[in-house]
Amino acid sequence: MRPVNVAVVYYSATGTVHTLARAVAEGAEKAGATVRLRKVAETAPAEAVGARPEWARHLEDTADVAEAAHGDLEWADAVLLGTPTRFGNPAGQLRTFLDTTGPLWFQGKLADKVYSAFTASNTAHGGQESTLLALANTFSHWGGVIVPPGYTDPVQFRSGNPYGTSHVTGDGPPGEVVLDAARHQARRVVDTAASLLAGRAARGL
Ligand SMILES: Cc1cc2nc3c(=O)[nH]c(=O)nc-3n(C[C@H](O)[C@H](O)[C@H](O)COP(=O)(O)O)c2cc1C
Repeated sequence: MRPVNVAVVYYSATGTVHTLARAVAEGAEKAGATVRLRKVAETAPAEAVGARPEWARHLEDTADVAEAAHGDLEWADAVLLGTPTRFGNPAGQLRTFLDTTGPLWFQGKLADKVYSAFTASNTAHGGQESTLLALANTFSHWGGVIVPPGYTDPVQFRSGNPYGTSHVTGDGPPGEVVLDAARHQARRVVDTAASLLAGRAARGL
């Protein structure tokens, strides 16, 4: 059977979610997948970006990361979306990309894939779960198979979010526990997508 194709599509203003996205990509690769790590386009005005040096710096530092395109979603068997929390919701930059996918959705090209999500917020109760559940709304409209990490690995009892890997940025940069959780989430997504591929192949679909 061919390897599972995984697209890790994320937005990050100051690097936290980018770090999580890299751990997710690493976990997926280690699980045998072919991985595309893709950022979505920055849509904030240059004055807003320029007013926060860490934002401008991160944008420069990740200039070499390819931008997500519809072809990445079409290609993927599994998609992991990453976003910082913005007032309890996904960032507008990610939403802007998702809101261009109508034509793919209409043709059924987003259905039957595995979907999962990860996030970061500044505070522990600052909306991680509402952000992840908001993305689950979109996955449902797409007809996706949503695969959350749950408590399927001991690391989940330490990192503590069954909805998706989450980091509290106010506590400092992501450490080994949350990065392990990200790798575990990716592995679980790849395993599920591989089972679906194998099952479809066995049934001649
Ligand atoms: C406009 C805006 C809204 C935010 N809303 C929240 C929020 O609702 N809860 C929270 O804990 N953090 C909030 N934050 C903080 C970010 O979620 C946090 O800094 C994030 O982890 C940074 O991720 P990044 O480094 O990948 O950009 C907000 C930040 C901005 C700029």
